[in-house]
Amino acid sequence: MASKLFITKPLKDLMADSQDSSHALKRTLGPVNLTLLGIGAIIGAGLFVRTAAAAAEHAGPAVTISYIVAAIGCAFAGLCYAEFASSIPIAGSAYTYSYATLGEFVAWIIGWDLILEYAFGAATVAIAWSEYLNKLLGHWNMAIPFEWSHSPFEVSADGISGMINLPAILILFLITLLLIRGTQESAFVNGIIVVIKVSIVLLFIGFGWAYINPMNHTPMIPEATTIKSHLGSNINFGGIMGILGGAGVVFFAFIGFDAVSTAAQEAKNPARDMPIGILASLAVCTVLYILFSYVLTGIAPYTDFRIAGKEASVAYAILHYMPGFEWLALLITVAILAGFSSVILVMLLGQTRVFYSMSRDGLVPAIFSDVHTKFRTPYKSNIVFFLFVGTFAAFIPGSVTGDMTSIGTLFAFVLVCAGVWIMRVRNPDMVRGFKTPFVPLVPILGILVCAAMIFGLGLENWVRLGIWLFIGLIIYFAYSIKNSRLQKK
Ligand code: ALA
Repeated sequence: MASKLFITKPLKDLMADSQDSSHALKRTLGPVNLTLLGIGAIIGAGLFVRTAAAAAEHAGPAVTISYIVAAIGCAFAGLCYAEFASSIPIAGSAYTYSYATLGEFVAWIIGWDLILEYAFGAATVAIAWSEYLNKLLGHWNMAIPFEWSHSPFEVSADGISGMINLPAILILFLITLLLIRGTQESAFVNGIIVVIKVSIVLLFIGFGWAYINPMNHTPMIPEATTIKSHLGSNINFGGIMGILGGAGVVFFAFIGFDAVSTAAQEAKNPARDMPIGILASLAVCTVLYILFSYVLTGIAPYTDFRIAGKEASVAYAILHYMPGFEWLALLITVAILAGFSSVILVMLLGQTRVFYSMSRDGLVPAIFSDVHTKFRTPYKSNIVFFLFVGTFAAFIPGSVTGDMTSIGTLFAFVLVCAGVWIMRVRNPDMVRGFKTPFVPLVPILGILVCAAMIFGLGLENWVRLGIWLFIGLIIYFAYSIKNSRLQKK
């Protein structure tokens, strides 16, 4: 039994599969598109919503240092992803890598786990998109009624109960149509969105710089103490623990750079361009994040973000501390809506590509790898995931899905770091377009930093992850192991 569970997929089989023309995806993406895809997935709710929350509840102005800590963790994982994506250029990312290194059982777990990152991630951001759309419409007194824009688990301040989140379904539907139409078209739209959101982030940094009040940055690292969180529990604020807690919160802002690797089978020259796409998008966003958080906490005192400035924190800071820049506050909302759309786009793209690979291996039904004859995209999979993610986004509150996304992603990072190391030992001669430096030091540090962040997410999330993986186990033993193409061989 054990040998069955840990059966690994030979590299030559992996490569041969990717060339099967009847199911082939089209190779249309170059290095610029891949980098833009990364930035498209990275800049979103994490930056615009969680920065202020991390400053208010954990790190104060040292949220800038939290960003540096989270970036270091992601850089270790990013270097490992880059090696895999350049040497195993197959759709499916971490799932595919673990099939080649750690065996089918672990590969299944990781494929199942990636649903948390991509499908739950897309649902979380679609719900946030709906909220911001309503904020924007509210400017013109056209807000969608509460019951049509919230899940049944939410009740408004004046006692109205939610029914269904229609705007969240709408954005998921539009993006699904685009994804079915073609990867190149999707990448094009993503590129436009990225230019819009990065420009507005740069405007905020540029104009905001002059309004930094040095008092707000003094002291940069507040003294360690405990405060009550919005849920009423005690949390560490300030000092080293505050910085680490903040890093766990802003980690969400970096999720997405790994999604670049799911599109490896659609890259023109994956050996060279995959590492560029992953590492360049991560580097660009790290610089933007550090500057953005420095300016935001310089303009407004972080204590504001505990009360009045808690909602729509960036617009709040502009409206209260940057007189004459009301237009920028409105543009920020537009950037947020655009930013969220591209995050959803890349998350859904990633999700369907992971299932595409799993389906080619027989671990999930064949419907997930049927490619449209004209558009060359896995259109049936897109439709199934629209229904799945749409149901979550319509009926479940976003707070439930957010932390699940983070823990699922961190777990995947740990396995990818371990996989690179194992592959170096087992397969030292494999041709690698990019080599992770200082193996095994970098993978080990990646595992440690990500494990520390998993630890920081707390018991409730570990239990949820455990339950999710348990459901996956049942499906694996009831269906996948019997239908696995590798097992049948
Ligand atoms: N990094 C993405 C975001 O912040 C998931 O929205």
